[in-house]
Amino acid sequence: MAKVTIDNQTFEFEGSPMVLQFCLDNEVDVPHFCYHPAMSAPANCRQCLIEVGMPDRDRATGHAILDEDGNPVIQFMPKLMTSCTQPAADGMVIRTHRSSDIIRRAQKDNLEFLLINHPLDCPICDQAGNCPLQIQAYKFGPESSRFEFEKSHKPKQIELGPNVMLDGERCINCTRCTRFTDEISESHQLTIIERGVDNYPMTPPGVVFDEPYSMNVIDICPVGALTSRDFRFKARVWEMSSTPSITTTNAKGSNCHYWVQDNLIMKVTPRTNMFVNEYWLADEDRLDYRRFNDNRPSGPTVDGDPVTWDLAYEHARGLLAKCEGAEILFVGSSSACVEDNFLLGRMAASLGADTPVFVEHAVEGAGDNWLVTDDKTPNREGCLRLDMHPLTGDSLRSRLSSGAIKVLYVLEEDLITSGLCSAEDLSGVEVIVHDNSISNQLVNLAAVTLPAAMIVETVGTYVSENGYAQKSVPAKAIRAVNRTLMMSIGKSRADMHGTPFDKWHHEENLIDCLPGWVSIPVVARALGQDLSFKGPRQIIEELSDSNEAFAGLSYEGMGEIGIQLEEVAATA
Ligand code: SF4
Ligand code: FES
Repeated sequence: MAKVTIDNQTFEFEGSPMVLQFCLDNEVDVPHFCYHPAMSAPANCRQCLIEVGMPDRDRATGHAILDEDGNPVIQFMPKLMTSCTQPAADGMVIRTHRSSDIIRRAQKDNLEFLLINHPLDCPICDQAGNCPLQIQAYKFGPESSRFEFEKSHKPKQIELGPNVMLDGERCINCTRCTRFTDEISESHQLTIIERGVDNYPMTPPGVVFDEPYSMNVIDICPVGALTSRDFRFKARVWEMSSTPSITTTNAKGSNCHYWVQDNLIMKVTPRTNMFVNEYWLADEDRLDYRRFNDNRPSGPTVDGDPVTWDLAYEHARGLLAKCEGAEILFVGSSSACVEDNFLLGRMAASLGADTPVFVEHAVEGAGDNWLVTDDKTPNREGCLRLDMHPLTGDSLRSRLSSGAIKVLYVLEEDLITSGLCSAEDLSGVEVIVHDNSISNQLVNLAAVTLPAAMIVETVGTYVSENGYAQKSVPAKAIRAVNRTLMMSIGKSRADMHGTPFDKWHHEENLIDCLPGWVSIPVVARALGQDLSFKGPRQIIEELSDSNEAFAGLSYEGMGEIGIQLEEVAATA
C-alpha cells in the first residue's frame, strides 16, 4: 500500500486523497479556512500550507538516493504548498506546522494579513468562542498587530435575506458561502463583489438570499461575517449546552444539535451524518424550535382544572374502565416516538380496542428530494411499521356520529386543527389527550390532559421516510428530572459551574410533562394491564423481539448516527 510520511509519522493510504483531508481524517490538525470537504477547493485562504518533499532519485537508474545513514534523501519543493489541493503520493514526505518553522512562520504571517482589516468585534460577535479565525489567531497567529493604518471599511448589517445577515468587514473572502450556493444548493444567490481588500459576498442585483437552505452559510462561514437574523445577540456559545439529536419538521431525520440556555432551545444547527443529511440542514428545520419553549401545557388537568398526576391517571382510568374495548378509539401520532406508539398499541390491545390509528401530515409538493419532505412529521414510517393506519376525517366523523366511540384517547395530535372533526362532532365523547401545546384544540374539551414531553426532553426512536431509525436524547430537562444527573443532556458552563440560584436559572422554564413511555404504562397499570418496562431501551428490545419490521433494533445499534432497519433486520 502507498505510504506518506507526515511530521515523521508514516501513514498508509489508497487512491490519491488531498493531503489536508487525509490529515483531518487521521486526526492531524492542519489549520485552514476556505476548504470544505463537500465543495471545490479554491485554495484562497493560504492557511493550510505544508512543505512537500519526495525521495530524490538517481536520474540514470531511477533508484532513490540514500544519505550516509542509508535513509532516502528528500527533495523538498521550493515553495510552500496548499495541503487542500495537494494530492498525496507514494513516498511523499510532508511537514506541517508541527515540525516546520517555515510553516509556522508562514501561517503566522498569513493570519496577520487576514487580521489586518478584520474588526475587533469578538466581544460582541455571535461566532466568538466557536470561531475558526479566533481559535487559529490564538493558536498560530501573531500576538499583536503591526498595522498602523486605517482599516478598510465595508458595509455592515446587510440583510442578505430573511434569515441571514452579513457583516462585510468580518469576511475573509474564503468563498465558502458563494460556493455553497453554486455547488450545493445551486441557488446561485450569492457572489463576490468589489475588488481587492474591498470585496465581500453579496446577492446579485434584485436577488434576495431566500433559498430554503440559506442558513447553512452561517455554519460554514469560518468567521462571524454571516449570522442568523433569528439568533443574533441572543446567547454566547459558552452559555449554551449542545445536544446531538434529530429534527422533526420533516420526515428525513436530519441530524442536528439543539442549543439550550436556561432550559430553553435557542437554536438548531446541523450535525454531520453522511447517511442522512451530510453537513446540511433546511432552514425550516432550524427555525421550528419555538414550539419546544412556548405554548407548552405544564401539569395535568381534569375537566380543565389543574390536578396532580395521580388524580389525572385515576380519572383517565375511570373513563376507560367504563367502556368496552371497541368504544375506545386510540389515536397515536407520527410526531411521537416509536416507544410511545408501541405502548399505546399494547394498551389498546390489552383493552380489546382496535390498533391505534394516526393522522397524516403530508403537504403534497412540499418536498424537494433533498432534506425537505412532503411529510411534516418525523415518524410516519415508524407508525406504519407498527401496523398503524392513517385516520381519515370521513371514517372518524361517521364513527362519532353513530355513537360508536365513547372515549377518544389521543397521543400528541390535534384532530380539530387537522380538520378530521369539529368540536361539535366530539360532544358526548370523553377525550383523554397527551398534549404538548396549549393551542391543541382538544385541550379545551378534554376530560383529562396529560402533558407530553417533546423530542428535546426525552429518549425516543424515530424512523425516517427511508426506513432509517434514529434515537433522540434529552437536550433540556423537564420538572421530573434533575438536569445535572441526566448524563445525556449536553452541559454548558452554567450547568457545570452554576447553581440553581444563579440569575440565569428560571424554574418556570422547567415544564411539568412526562414522556409517553412513562405516563401510558401508569394508565395501563391502573386498569390492571401489565405494561411495565424498565425504560425505553427495554421497550425497543421487546419491539425488536415481537415485530419483524424492527427485528434486531437496539439503542446500541442506533448509536448516535442511526441505522437502516432493513440492514439490521438482515443481520438479526
Ligand atoms: S462571508 Fe464568510 S463564508 Fe462568505 S466569503 Fe466571507 S468569510 Fe467566507
Ligand atoms: S484551506 Fe487550503 S488554501 Fe484555504
